[in-house]
Amino acid sequence: MSDFLIAPSILSADFAKLGDEVNAVLRAGADVVHFDVMDNHYVPNLTIGPMVCRALRHHGITAPIDVHLMVTPVDELAIAFADAGASWISFHPEASHHVDRTLSLIRERGCKAGLVFNPATGLEAARYVMDKLDFILLMSVNPGFGGQKFIPSTLVKLREARRMIDDSGLPIRLEVDGGVGTGNIRAIAEAGADTFVAGSAIFGAPDYAEVIAAMRQQLALAAASA
Ligand code: DX5
Ligand code: ZN
Repeated sequence: MSDFLIAPSILSADFAKLGDEVNAVLRAGADVVHFDVMDNHYVPNLTIGPMVCRALRHHGITAPIDVHLMVTPVDELAIAFADAGASWISFHPEASHHVDRTLSLIRERGCKAGLVFNPATGLEAARYVMDKLDFILLMSVNPGFGGQKFIPSTLVKLREARRMIDDSGLPIRLEVDGGVGTGNIRAIAEAGADTFVAGSAIFGAPDYAEVIAAMRQQLALAAASA
């Protein structure tokens, strides 16, 4: 697997100059903009909504925007983000009463649909909706904050998710979110991930291009050893 995508999480960007930060990280080689939405209800933190997504589009951002919804209820905000220019929309299955319906309504609006699994949550909710999924996102920290430590058991779960995806024969991406950096991205890729969210590791570095290049170097080693 060599089509790896790097998705900086703007949670760790400087919100006072968000448009410039997103342009800078894309110029530095990022593929996807990871956009964390927190509602102080599903998670104990509050971030940004559809207006900010729309503002980034108006600012000229054309890269895919990967909206990670940590909110409940899900459906109305998913629709609002689709209307605001989101490309990918994911949600946590326990936050929606009707997971199949929520996935369908995301796809009906032309977005890629994903399910997000917290560290302690099994992959069962994905089993019967594989045909409605464009990606699976495994949390490798408990959601709510940037800058936390990668939970090692995610590597076991990534292998399980990779098997499920390969067995399905469907083109479902496998994304990982939380505590990803140059020191562990190779092992994470070798466990089966193909899409890597990184917040503090990228926005906390003085040179975004340098850290993204270092990540790609590690990913190339993972691809070579596959
Ligand atoms: C956590 C968010 C992550 C977070 C990742 O709830 O979903 O996207 O920003 O940040 P780092 O890479 O710093 O763990
Ligand atoms: Zn996220």
